[in-house]
Amino acid sequence: MTKTRGVLIAGNWKMNHTMAETQQFFAKLQTESKSLLGDSARASFKNGSLRAVLLPPMLSLERAQRQVDSMPFLIELGAQNAHWEKKGAFTGEVSGPMLAEMRIHWVLVGHSERRQHFGETDESTRKRTENLLEQGFKVILCIGETHSEREGDQMEAVLTRQLLSVLPERGKGAANYLDGRLVIAYEPVWAIGTGLTATPAQAEEAHAFLRGILAARFGTSASDQTPLLYGGSATPENMDSLLACPNVDGALVGGASLKHEGYLALLASGARALHSIDHQT
Ligand code: PGA
Repeated sequence: MTKTRGVLIAGNWKMNHTMAETQQFFAKLQTESKSLLGDSARASFKNGSLRAVLLPPMLSLERAQRQVDSMPFLIELGAQNAHWEKKGAFTGEVSGPMLAEMRIHWVLVGHSERRQHFGETDESTRKRTENLLEQGFKVILCIGETHSEREGDQMEAVLTRQLLSVLPERGKGAANYLDGRLVIAYEPVWAIGTGLTATPAQAEEAHAFLRGILAARFGTSASDQTPLLYGGSATPENMDSLLACPNVDGALVGGASLKHEGYLALLASGARALHSIDHQT
């Protein structure tokens, strides 16, 4: 078992943290990261094997951006959504160029809450993914089955549909999807915000399945390079066991990323996963 893809911990703040709260989060993160993150975490940040991404609400992004430069390790920032068009008559939307101007390089796409509450579809998810990758962003694409779909033995069919509706055919037009900027987050809807985390075995089963779909579409080497994150009630308590799964390359975390100590604990778990692998090999 190797963690050749490193570990990526992305915090999805959803509609939480005002600008003032964002400022407090980073201030505390800065002062407490020294005591809460050990030498192995610092080394992992330095060699790029551990990556920290945070996705604050749009209005708090600028405040976060002003503070990340003074953090003791690299935190990359992302938006929780962006439109596929670069500009135009799309009231309420934010475009890629607006984010790029703020030096925001990540965008979350297709989150189940966007699908559930805001009418997003496989097709709008495809358009966002395609155009934002084309504009140079790193994209975290969210997919996952609902409770009733899992109960109805539909998990594999749903994951296949959600993923293949976004991925292009192999060859022409696929380069943007294969250069390491596409990250896929498996988020079983029944686990999001419910405290019902998938077991490591359930997460590994879904991730291995997704890797198989990627391999069939793009070949094994591209599939092996694509990071697959687990999301859904991930916490510092269950992170070690999830990261021990060979196909779990990190996590997309909502509630547990809102407090600086929770986020630091998740990063520490990422460092442990990398470190224990180093010691085994
Ligand atoms: P949760 O949210 O960690 O609060 O379950 C995860 C997500 O929706 O990305």
